[in-house]
Amino acid sequence: MILVTGGAGFIGANFVLDWLAQSDEPLLNLDKLTYAGNRENLASLANDRRHVFVHGDIADSDLTGRLLARYTPRAIINFAAESHVDRSIHGPEDFIQTNVVGTFHLLESTRGYWSKLPAGTRERFRFLHVSTDEVYGSLTSDAPAFSETHRYEPNSPYSASKAASDHLVRAYHHTYHLPVLTTNCSNNYGPYHFPEKLIPLMIVNALAGRPLPVYGDGQQIRDWLYVQDHCSAIRRVMDAGRPGETYNIGGCNEKPNLEIVHTVCTLLDELRPRADGRPYREQITYVADRPGHDRRYAIDAGKIERELGWRPAETFATGIRKTVEWYLANQDWVSNVQSGAYRDWVEKNYGGRPS
Ligand code: NAD
Ligand code: DAU
Repeated sequence: MILVTGGAGFIGANFVLDWLAQSDEPLLNLDKLTYAGNRENLASLANDRRHVFVHGDIADSDLTGRLLARYTPRAIINFAAESHVDRSIHGPEDFIQTNVVGTFHLLESTRGYWSKLPAGTRERFRFLHVSTDEVYGSLTSDAPAFSETHRYEPNSPYSASKAASDHLVRAYHHTYHLPVLTTNCSNNYGPYHFPEKLIPLMIVNALAGRPLPVYGDGQQIRDWLYVQDHCSAIRRVMDAGRPGETYNIGGCNEKPNLEIVHTVCTLLDELRPRADGRPYREQITYVADRPGHDRRYAIDAGKIERELGWRPAETFATGIRKTVEWYLANQDWVSNVQSGAYRDWVEKNYGGRPS
């Protein structure tokens, strides 16, 4: 079997669902169920014996040691993290605890387990660390996209904590020869995306008649990738990536935030027109910028394409339509995640934010 951490979150849950749709290999899912972890994402697996869910923390070495000894996974995919940049600005400590300290403890447990495996199994074992393009910092408008050799220049507590975890993973390969792989991916979107992030926030706010808060001038650029394409890239790297290597993953799909918001509004105008017939983009409001906001990210995904033959299957046009349709069809999921804690976050980040 394989061990997935953070498999109740956005990308992790998509990965778990995809994995079990394509393979009969069982999957052990370790998740702390923070505000971002949601068992409802995995409801379709309730009676599926191939999915073993454990509620726990990657920083709990006793627990991970016991799980590794009991289930003897052939690979670990580490999705578990605090993932939201704005939250890292309001409160960085959880990011250091999970992304840095948690990854360190998981690496230590893994090293202890892996070093005692029989030779052949030890050689085939893989630890895949899921990271982000944000570790590379911000690009100017005419700079080439991030390659794997781009210097690390993280700018937010989130990206700094992910950069630290990437360095630990690298060091465990260099020092102990642990067979690690690191992927650095651009912005994902798709089903089960928590509505604190740009695309789901815009869909959810638009439908509720609330303002659509665009930070600064809305001209910051992100490189968007449909989440299932990220999952297929991770599977490919796990199967064929060279231990010790890093692979950038992206959609070759750079867009300014304002264009993303306009696209969401246009799709909603078509699929769920406002009762008053007015366009959703009338709800856009410009609000104070995110402190330290990175201006542009762009991924050069040439290495994974050349070496492993991976390319995204979805275009932005097809992926964003599927995404908006998913949110319209899953309004119960949307209302269930908008708990009191979610409302507290919205008040903290947007309430009193100057326009
Ligand atoms: P998410 O916030 O939606 O989910 C994170 C999951 O990890 C949640 O289920 C949460 O409960 C769990 N978790 C948090 N702390 C934990 C701990 N200490 N132990 C065990 N589980 C814990 O995040 P996501 O957007 O799905 O991102 C998953 C991974 O992919 C992260 O490592 C993130 O840095 C990386 N990434 C995300 C994107 C993106 O666009 N969302 C892009 C590139 C890379
Ligand atoms: O690049 C990969 C990263 O993408 C991941 O590592 C992170 O985990 C993930 O959260 C995401 O980070 P971003 O900061 O790019 O995503 P977010 O959805 O928070 O913001 C996308 C852009 O939209 C960013 O430029 C900020 C802007 N934004 C965001 C929100 C929430 C707004 O203008 N208004 C908003 O309300």
